[in-house]
Amino acid sequence: MKIFTEGDYEHMSMMAANVVAPYICSGMTIGLATGSTPIGLYGELVKKCRANKIDFSRIKTINLDEYVGLDKDSKQSYRYFMDSFLFDLVNIDKRNTFIPNGNGDLDKECKRYDELIERYPIDLQILGIGHNGHIGFNEPSDSFSKNTHVVELTKSTMDANSRFFTGEKMPEKAITMGIAQIFSAKSIILLVNGESKADIIREALLGPITPRVPASILQLHEDLTVIGDMAALKYV
Ligand code: F6R
Repeated sequence: MKIFTEGDYEHMSMMAANVVAPYICSGMTIGLATGSTPIGLYGELVKKCRANKIDFSRIKTINLDEYVGLDKDSKQSYRYFMDSFLFDLVNIDKRNTFIPNGNGDLDKECKRYDELIERYPIDLQILGIGHNGHIGFNEPSDSFSKNTHVVELTKSTMDANSRFFTGEKMPEKAITMGIAQIFSAKSIILLVNGESKADIIREALLGPITPRVPASILQLHEDLTVIGDMAALKYV
């Protein structure tokens, strides 16, 4: 495991962009996360693209998760998030960007996503971490999940993410890649910032490996890079 502790969110995002850029230039398949943590990274990648330093035209992206039941054009959907923070701002071919569809036949969608990940193995997976240790929307549980599946969101996740839902009811379910699929990525970058994540990141990186803290499985990954700010990484 490599750990980069940067002074603040801005420097952490710049460092993350420098690590991700070569994967983009070489046309790899990249697993993407949403949430507030990677927004700075996406901003830095947009800057590099606009300066003609990186070219998104050959990459494929596979997002971790999506809410169940949101309208396709909902501003809270992860498709909308990805379009506004990255895809609409760089020269990516949107036909090569994949996000689970949280509407319609969910069993079929889980199967379609599993096949997609098998067809395009993930070279680099970008992750954030929830306050309860979730990665993707894999909530604390009795066992590590394998494939794409539908989850009931926990109270901790509902509380953390309800800030994004003003005037719209937050979905209580999501569709997410499984832990084994995340783990199968050749390389993983875990991003974390802010004091409020300091305890959970210590538990995830230094505590026992348990499905009660889903991110703890990452301790076993052979190419894990953690990039965070000093506030989040003060105990590790
Ligand atoms: C979102 C995702 C989640 C977030 C996590 C942290 O695609 O996979 O696991 O990474 O909930 O969210 P933020 O970054 O908002 O603290």
